[in-house]
Amino acid sequence: MSLKISVIGTGYLGAVHAACMAELGHTVVGIDTDASKIEALAAGRSPIYEPGLPELLTSTGESGRLTWSTDISAAADADVHFVCVGTPQRAGEYAANTDYVFAAFTALAPHMKAGSIAVGKSTVPVGTVPRVLEAIRENVTDGIDARLVWNPEFLREGFAVKDTLTPDRFVYGVEGEFADADVEKLDEVYDKALAAGTPRLVTNYATAELVKVSANAFLATKISFINAMAEICEATGGDVLALADAIGHDERIGRKFLGAGVGFGGGCLPKDIRAFLARGEELGLPDSVAFLRGVDATNLRRRERVVTLVEGALGDVAGKPIAVLGAAFKPNSDDIRDSPALDVAERLVQLGADVRVHDPEALPVARANRPGPNYVDTVDEALDGAQIVLHLTEWKQYRELDPAEVATKVANKVVIDGRNALDGARWADAGFTVHSLGRPV
Ligand code: UGA
Repeated sequence: MSLKISVIGTGYLGAVHAACMAELGHTVVGIDTDASKIEALAAGRSPIYEPGLPELLTSTGESGRLTWSTDISAAADADVHFVCVGTPQRAGEYAANTDYVFAAFTALAPHMKAGSIAVGKSTVPVGTVPRVLEAIRENVTDGIDARLVWNPEFLREGFAVKDTLTPDRFVYGVEGEFADADVEKLDEVYDKALAAGTPRLVTNYATAELVKVSANAFLATKISFINAMAEICEATGGDVLALADAIGHDERIGRKFLGAGVGFGGGCLPKDIRAFLARGEELGLPDSVAFLRGVDATNLRRRERVVTLVEGALGDVAGKPIAVLGAAFKPNSDDIRDSPALDVAERLVQLGADVRVHDPEALPVARANRPGPNYVDTVDEALDGAQIVLHLTEWKQYRELDPAEVATKVANKVVIDGRNALDGARWADAGFTVHSLGRPV
């Protein structure tokens, strides 16, 4: 079944969603108020580093199924409208900023044709969706029904295309007199994945909103749990890698997301747990979400731990060259939002160190947005004469470095593996003192 689809908001989520919907055979228009983004996408250029996306933009663009516009009226023809705008943390607060969500639905509503549905994909605090429906109702053309489904997205950066085309599950939050028809319509959009057996859960609005934030809260908690165990290991001589392997064999626990290290970052987990804390308090349920304060605090302590280890190794860091490998919040992404690597680099800059940061993909965005560290184009420039090497984003090319060769470049053979991803024995054989988070030296 081929439908006409609009995707409003062409950031990470929207750009990938638009391309993937076209790949599924639908006719898609991606809409954004940011003309430079639309211009890039229309030329087949991905505004973000995401494996597989450039190819998809090119092939779907050439097929004629994917077009781009800055004009919201381009949505008028669509049967299904996906709203994919961001809900960033409000400056100086924990709460999420939902202004873009309301602005997008309000702008869209007058262009909705009879029988079309609006679908929210953004991550919103529980209780937002009924207010969005109200905003649509107030702005649709007389005689047109306001129809809204909440369909959260679970894609991971770096795997965004795969996660969108073949997700773990679909969640449809529906309510009201059109609920059954709305489910049918969304089933048409996702018919290929559904036919392949992807589970689909139909819930009310509040549950759909909560599925997303509770999934991210759970993932963040799992990471902070193992990082808290790393702290205990550091104090007692335990090895958090062996610990994670051993507890991970219990199927009820599972080994995934027990990667101890410098902690989680990115545009989702940190902001979502803080927004959940803010929302819990607004709901008069601070105790129900209080544990997330500990999750956040443990996560941030891991960044401080790296700085402490550097100071332990070098004493006063002022003026000393430090190689930081990695700027993105995780590999296979050029996203630097709340990146632990950059946070550590900036703290060391504040302490007066000569910090050289390398990253295979994130340098342009880091240079433009986070001045401070010295960003260098090659790993060698970072390593040359360095007093210490910090491995903070586990890109494949860093794991594949030959420690014996690195040893010839640095001034002092000390490495801190902030991701527990290097082959510590090889680095030690090359003469390095290897500090891993949560593991004995
Ligand atoms: C996260 C969720 O995994 C997705 O399911 C969700 O859809 C997405 O947020 C979102 O809300 O849009 P993402 O931010 O792309 O996806 O990144 P993750 O792969 O979850 O990694 C998050 C952070 O945790 C990274 O900094 C990563 O390095 C860190 N991490 C991950 C660990 O420190 N240890 C681990 O074991 C796993």
